[in-house]
Amino acid sequence: MITPKDILGHLPGGRILDVATGSGSFIHFLLEGLPTYTEIIGLDVNERAAAAFATTFSDKPAIRFVLGDAMSPSFDASSFDLVCIANSLHHFDDPAALLQQMLRVLRPGGHLLVAEMVRDEQTETQLTHVHLHHWWAAIDSLNGITHHETYQRETLVAMVENLGLEKLTFYDLADMSEDPKDPAILIQLDPVFERYLQRAAGHPELQARGAALRERVLSTGFHSATTWVALGGKPHVKTA
Ligand SMILES: C[S@@+](CC[C@H](N)C(=O)[O-])C[C@H]1O[C@@H](n2cnc3c(N)ncnc32)[C@H](O)[C@@H]1O
Repeated sequence: MITPKDILGHLPGGRILDVATGSGSFIHFLLEGLPTYTEIIGLDVNERAAAAFATTFSDKPAIRFVLGDAMSPSFDASSFDLVCIANSLHHFDDPAALLQQMLRVLRPGGHLLVAEMVRDEQTETQLTHVHLHHWWAAIDSLNGITHHETYQRETLVAMVENLGLEKLTFYDLADMSEDPKDPAILIQLDPVFERYLQRAAGHPELQARGAALRERVLSTGFHSATTWVALGGKPHVKTA
């Protein structure tokens, strides 16, 4: 299985931006894989994420949260060595414009990393996750939260290839080692089902979809869908 070190172990670290960081889950991946860093900033528009982030990283002063919109980040151009986004591209209406903003704040020679769950080429147990995710997206959208269905691999590849990065490399992260019918999975998912069923109140079609998915977790089983990772370097500007 590919590890965070396999992907990040050769990078120089430096100043890092994690876009749409939420409570900072992806920063654990960065800490596991990077040999070193000077500063990690998690950027998110959600004030509630700030509190969870601060608690998690309270013992690490070089890791901090900045509240702001990733579509218009206030950071200087070329001011980061590594700019990342994980599990979040499908939370934006214009992901191509977002990637351009990420590229703007990245220094030439620095690296851009995109990690995103894919919907195609999945096993039946992974498709349980994909279908669940799309059910969550439908309910969030109903409640005014930007949450699109996840992308197909070729859409993501095209989006990132369009950025003109150097040494662009793709990885697949998937862990199929767990028992897909482990009862602990449903115990973990049950509060999430409850929360989303409540949010779908008044929408019988969405509630029925939720009930069918809960049944699918039991009958088919569950594995996390594959996370696709792209890493590439921002080219230096050529001078005549
Ligand atoms: C699924 S969470 C991903 C969190 C984290 N990256 C992870 O891997 O667990 C998506 C995040 O995108 C954030 N987000 C959505 N639109 C945003 C925007 N315009 N600017 C910054 N963050 C945004 C949400 O607040 C949410 O925390």
